[in-house]
Amino acid sequence: MHFLRATPILGALLAQALAALVLAGLLQALLPELAGRFGIAPVIGAALVLQALLSAGLTRALGLAVWWQWIALAFPFAVALALAAGSLPAWPFGLAFLLLYLFFSNTARERVPLYLSNRATIEALGRLMRERSASHFIDLGSGLGGVVRGIAGDGRKAEGYETAPMAFLISAILSKLTGRGQIYRRDIWSADITEADLVYVFLSPEPMPMVHDKARREMKPGSLLVSNSFAIPGLDADEIWDLSDRRKTRLYLYAMKG
Ligand SMILES: C[S@@+](CC[C@H](N)C(=O)[O-])C[C@H]1O[C@@H](n2cnc3c(N)ncnc32)[C@H](O)[C@@H]1O
Repeated sequence: MHFLRATPILGALLAQALAALVLAGLLQALLPELAGRFGIAPVIGAALVLQALLSAGLTRALGLAVWWQWIALAFPFAVALALAAGSLPAWPFGLAFLLLYLFFSNTARERVPLYLSNRATIEALGRLMRERSASHFIDLGSGLGGVVRGIAGDGRKAEGYETAPMAFLISAILSKLTGRGQIYRRDIWSADITEADLVYVFLSPEPMPMVHDKARREMKPGSLLVSNSFAIPGLDADEIWDLSDRRKTRLYLYAMKG
């Protein structure tokens, strides 16, 4: 299980393969009768839905992160579309690719997909800000800006840095409309975090050593780095907060030394 969680693509493929085996058994037994009664197209549609649901359930049972369940759900339909591609126009694929790029451009480049902090996490960060009398918050890789807008206000300054074009655009507009927080279209590695009291990251295991280097070099003594779900390798956190949300969010708190 641990191996599959560390290399989730293998877990995802295993889930699809197991689901396909179950489906093949079912079709073997039932296909002639079902196809005779309903026609072949509805049976293929039902088989795709079943493959999607089974593989998503297995992905969940294997303990993979929630976005792999969404991928498992979409995968059978994507394969079916690709197989039918010869008879379909090309522009929907181009449009889908463009949309994926606009939202997820950092997934390939930084190995950081777009998934969002939940309400429980935003509340915990707000509590942390109040407990520490902190007034300047920065979210590095701010996604749709929900955390920034959630923390801003009551005299607190909240800023986010985001480079995925659509995520930046949506979050910048929402910040402007609500008057909560400020979003910059700037790479997290060139963000100015020298004045922040609390820097928050929700990225992936891959960039954590670099996040640590940047925090150590630039953050002021007494400030706090908080990482959602991903610890800095080889460094003990000063505190770990386990939230009682459904996702069982874990926050790693690192205090910056003088
Ligand atoms: C997992 S999401 C977290 C979003 C938000 N912080 C939240 O908690 O809801 C990570 C975000 O970091 C962004 N990101 C990754 N690498 C980045 C980089 N080098 N510069 C700016 N943004 C980056 C991604 O585009 C993505 O929106």
